Amino acid sequence: MISTFDALVIGAGVIGLSVAFELARRGRSVEVIDSRMSWEGRSSTVAAGMLGPASEAEIADPAMLELQLDSLRRYPDFTADLEAASGQSCGYSADGTLWPARHRDDELQLEHLRQVQRDRGLEAEWLTAAEARKLEPALAPRVIGGLLVPGDHQVDPRRLLAALQRTAQSARCSLHWETRIRRYDEIADGFHVWYEGASIMNFRARNIVIATGAWTDQLKQPPLPPIGMRPVKGQLLRLRGEPLAARVLRTPDVYIVPRADGELVIGATEEEQGWDDRPTAGGVLDQLRYAWEVLPGIYDLELREINVGFRPAVGDHMPVIGRSSHERIIYATGHYRHGILLAPATAWHVANLIEGQDAPDLLRPFAPQRLAAAGTASGEAAK
Ligand code: GLY
Repeated sequence: MISTFDALVIGAGVIGLSVAFELARRGRSVEVIDSRMSWEGRSSTVAAGMLGPASEAEIADPAMLELQLDSLRRYPDFTADLEAASGQSCGYSADGTLWPARHRDDELQLEHLRQVQRDRGLEAEWLTAAEARKLEPALAPRVIGGLLVPGDHQVDPRRLLAALQRTAQSARCSLHWETRIRRYDEIADGFHVWYEGASIMNFRARNIVIATGAWTDQLKQPPLPPIGMRPVKGQLLRLRGEPLAARVLRTPDVYIVPRADGELVIGATEEEQGWDDRPTAGGVLDQLRYAWEVLPGIYDLELREINVGFRPAVGDHMPVIGRSSHERIIYATGHYRHGILLAPATAWHVANLIEGQDAPDLLRPFAPQRLAAAGTASGEAAK
């Protein structure tokens, strides 16, 4: 007898696995497949894990900010449930974010950011240099003040993924690496799918979720029109040593994310280099210099890793979440710089779509059909 699953999720990054987790905890059955061997080089493992909608309020489209805030609100419950299910910590921390000002130019930019945050009802507090240094004693002497954004948090993406992976091997969910769809046929209530991995297997899936990130337009099955997805290269550094900061630090040039275990993540470049995954001297030099300007103690830390990741971006840099022209094929991709932050909201809303609900207003700006309208996809009909 052929098994039938509620959903087949293609892509085992943070988005695909979060959707699978959400479905499984609602009692749905899920298969997750990924054509690669592991997470190596995935944006999910490279990501720093900042959960910072208020810090980016100035540049975010209002609809995007709303989705980000929706996701941030879900984070404490999402990670608590995931930790209970997996028995592993996700490294979620609500310690806030500090923007140190290095000079008058930073100060004016931060004043502007603070005004935007106020207009949008987001909390932020201006600190004098002494107040900033009291919170973060390792700040450089040149720091002249700072903006404290208490609502912007962080999570450890690698821990989050490890917890998700553990829950993806359960009674309701299984995860298959190095596996791709070989053939699929539409049937009355979904799809009959043959996939090829360690062996060739076939099963039925009521829905298919596309969570393939930067690789979305390379997917052969199901045969969807291209949506104009491109990789945006990011270089990050992972340092380790004596703890230098208690919370996320940001400047217009760099972010510094400290972990409780002594890791310090510094990032990131944003480069249009296609699939070039080589770290560069310039990328490393810039990140270190920008970080050293506010946190000179990094000079003595061990440089453990230089990571390169590919952010999945479509033309408007907004995520692609919603039903395709086929109502049982659902996109959850294109999260660009915000995959980690948007994972709980994406999982929640995609699971609702799979359960037959209409897309809420919150999700409408992210519908795949907008890309067809903008001429970046080859003519998907709106549904
Ligand atoms: N999420 C931050 C970045 O993409 O660099």
